[in-house]
Amino acid sequence: MAHSDSIVDFLLKEPDRTLSGGELGRRIGISRTAVWKNVQALQKEGYKIEVRKGRGYKLNALTSTPVAREIKRGLSTKILGRTSFYYEEVESTNNIAKELAREGSAEGTLVIAGVQTKGRGRLDRAWESPVGGIYLSLILRPGIHPSSIARLTLLSGLAVVRAVKSLYDLKVWLKWPNDLVISDTKLGGILSEMEGEAENVNFVVIGIGINANRNVTVDIPSTSIKAEIGREVDIIGLVQEILKELERLYLEFLEGSTTFLDEYKKSSNTLGRAVEIQGRDKTITGRALDIDSDGALLLQMSDGTIEKVLSGDCIHLS
Ligand code: BTN
Repeated sequence: MAHSDSIVDFLLKEPDRTLSGGELGRRIGISRTAVWKNVQALQKEGYKIEVRKGRGYKLNALTSTPVAREIKRGLSTKILGRTSFYYEEVESTNNIAKELAREGSAEGTLVIAGVQTKGRGRLDRAWESPVGGIYLSLILRPGIHPSSIARLTLLSGLAVVRAVKSLYDLKVWLKWPNDLVISDTKLGGILSEMEGEAENVNFVVIGIGINANRNVTVDIPSTSIKAEIGREVDIIGLVQEILKELERLYLEFLEGSTTFLDEYKKSSNTLGRAVEIQGRDKTITGRALDIDSDGALLLQMSDGTIEKVLSGDCIHLS
């Protein structure tokens, strides 16, 4: 355990006491100066540690920054987030997660950041990532065929829908395939990326971006949870809830369950609408009829035929 983790733990265990640097140092096996240095680093992370001159340290409040140790405290999952890395600023949490996965990091490893300087969205779009958003990536090693990846993306969106509903009683809709929206304004999105061979996936990185405490200007109108509920979002609590719901759905998925699809469809604000799908090579319009077990959108064309669409940019026309 890192020394700073131990300091927080000891202060948290005795919230009414002021613990001296000497006592903390003895318990952990480090010098008083080292305790002081760690306390300063913790204060920088946002921990409200009061320094009482000549007496020691008292913890008045934990940080709201999603540092690894706070995500882990009270986390109810068995796989997701058991190993986690927090960065104040990164280019893209997906990039870091992919590097870690290539180096062999365990399934469930979480990478989370306060700010991304080169956040990426689908179709190589930039994903603005200022302070106040949730930017996280998870490494999964599902051992599945690459064609099943789309289902994992849908399932991840559903986990966010469930988490936001349970914590804030707020209805988030899913715009196919992976946009999280409220009243047709964008709240977030999922970017899944995989590496593997033709028949087998080595790993999948699920990237989740959510406008929690601030919304950003993207190509379509956007909102944030804070704007919707009128108060600040507890980012750590929301991340923990997302991990809990995602793990539940993921384990069912690994057992072959497809029941999440029905729930996804109930939260879809694409089904039943006239849509335009801008693919790599062509653009088609039709009515969104259904989502099949591959996660593909089934479009009814004007001549009555059904077209199966696996990917593309979806624009609601009605
Ligand atoms: C989209 O709607 O286009 C998907 C946006 C996904 C953004 C997240 S933020 C965390 C992770 N890191 C990235 O660079 N992108 C994803």
